[in-house]
Amino acid sequence: MITFENVCKKYSEDERPVFQDFSETIEEGEFIILTGESGNGKSTLIRMLLKEIDPDSGKITVNGKDISLIPRSEIPFYRRSIGVIFQDFKLFDEYTVFGNLELALTLTGGAGRDKEKRITDILKLLGIDRMFKRYPGELSGGEQQKVCMARALLNDPVMLLADEPTGNLDPASSEEIVKLMELVHRHGTTVIMATHDYDLVRQVVKDGRHVPL
Ligand SMILES: Nc1ncnc2c1ncn2[C@@H]1O[C@H](COP(=O)(O)OP(=O)(O)OP(=O)(O)O)[C@@H](O)[C@H]1O
Ligand SMILES: [Mg+2]
Repeated sequence: MITFENVCKKYSEDERPVFQDFSETIEEGEFIILTGESGNGKSTLIRMLLKEIDPDSGKITVNGKDISLIPRSEIPFYRRSIGVIFQDFKLFDEYTVFGNLELALTLTGGAGRDKEKRITDILKLLGIDRMFKRYPGELSGGEQQKVCMARALLNDPVMLLADEPTGNLDPASSEEIVKLMELVHRHGTTVIMATHDYDLVRQVVKDGRHVPL
């Protein structure tokens, strides 16, 4: 479903490449646990999949399509099929939980008549529906990350990318987030998670596949 073929990437001429002939195949429905020391390229890999940056050479395919061939005008459409969460939550402080999700739907062109139901359903699934009128500043870090997960899942993505989603959370909240990611994985979504919490993820996600960078 996702392939990297001889991908090379370096940010500047005088530094060593982040990726040198990197190849990997990720099957549909896999849970990939991406690890590696700081600077080994975890975020770079995720950003290449999102087409925020391009490799210098080599090929990345998603669902059989070479993503370098996606025209600029279709990138927003492509990104809508990918859910993404980060270490810092990137919520809009001046919007409520519901407002943040509504805004996300509007920005991706997904706001239809069933908008409210979709938002409520996903908040229920993640167990945070009672918080929908609160502002991010009135939520704990773990709760904010759940809102980010809800936002990432709104458009029913085929893959969920997570760049150290537990990086700012205490152990209990981290475990909750990883358990929710496992739930998403069990629903059939391909998950790629960059993490420094390898042991925790391994415990929760029994069939996860470790890809060290
Ligand atoms: N925009 C950029 N310009 C120049 N160099 C960059 C840029 N982004 C990343 N790098 C460099 O590329 C390398 C890989 O960075 P990346 O952020 O992918 O690592 P990482 O594995 O995510 O690290 P961490 O665990 O600290 O998040 C690092 O050496 C970093 O300094
Ligand atoms: Mg990183």
